[in-house]
Amino acid sequence: MSEKNLPPGTRAEGVRGEEDTARYVRKMFARITPRYDLLNRLLSFSLDQVWRRRTAQALAAPLAAADSRALDLCCGTADLTLALRRVSAGAVVGCDFVHPMLVRAAKKAAGRRVGLIEADALMLPFADRSFDAVAVAFGFRNLANYRRGLEEMHRVLKPGGEVAILEFALPQEGLFAALYRFYFRRLLPWIGYAVSGARTPYSYLPASVERFPGCEEFSHWMELAGFTAVSYQLWTGGTVALHQGRKS
Ligand SMILES: C[S@@+](CC[C@H](N)C(=O)[O-])C[C@H]1O[C@@H](n2cnc3c(N)ncnc32)[C@H](O)[C@@H]1O
Repeated sequence: MSEKNLPPGTRAEGVRGEEDTARYVRKMFARITPRYDLLNRLLSFSLDQVWRRRTAQALAAPLAAADSRALDLCCGTADLTLALRRVSAGAVVGCDFVHPMLVRAAKKAAGRRVGLIEADALMLPFADRSFDAVAVAFGFRNLANYRRGLEEMHRVLKPGGEVAILEFALPQEGLFAALYRFYFRRLLPWIGYAVSGARTPYSYLPASVERFPGCEEFSHWMELAGFTAVSYQLWTGGTVALHQGRKS
């Protein structure tokens, strides 16, 4: 596969170009912030926190030292930031570009020794080789430029540093796959709308997951961005994937 095959980034219906996409994504997440955590728990049957904990644990080795630094990209309301806090002996920073998400994150993280920064994952305000680990949960898929997202993660990692990207996946075959797709495409948007009062975000969710490439393809992108030891594991019947890699 050549670099030409990389999709540019997320796109929503009727939205063209990177800047408009980023604006759309910002507006969408700002709108659902008040009900975001509740819907995460509801729609995932509370498995979302298990997935974040396992993602943080996958980074325990590079975060064992007291002078280590971890970055949670697209941190939203800081659930993964706080999971990283629990496994890390060093500093933990969360970053997001939606202000209301960070306000909520700051409330949840009060007194928990985490830094929170309002910044765009595609233009990070950090020097090269700043972090021992970079993690992102359910945020990468929403970036307006996937290649730049991977390059930025690679840039801010120290040599030997590790990346962990948690994303939704789609189970491929069998009865469970059929039932899950029905849930994901039909029920989830409906529940999301009923609870948040916003129709678009919870229709965008399944649509963006369907547009996102499969795990093998995504592993290839990670390699193109310079990551080595690239691997992935599927959890919960193949509904989520944890992608990992290292900067050599
Ligand atoms: C589905 S939420 C995930 C939030 C959190 N990581 C979690 O596990 O709940 C996606 C988050 O990505 C953020 N995001 C999307 N594009 C971003 C960008 N370019 N820079 C920073 N944050 C971004 C959104 O603001 C939103 O908070």
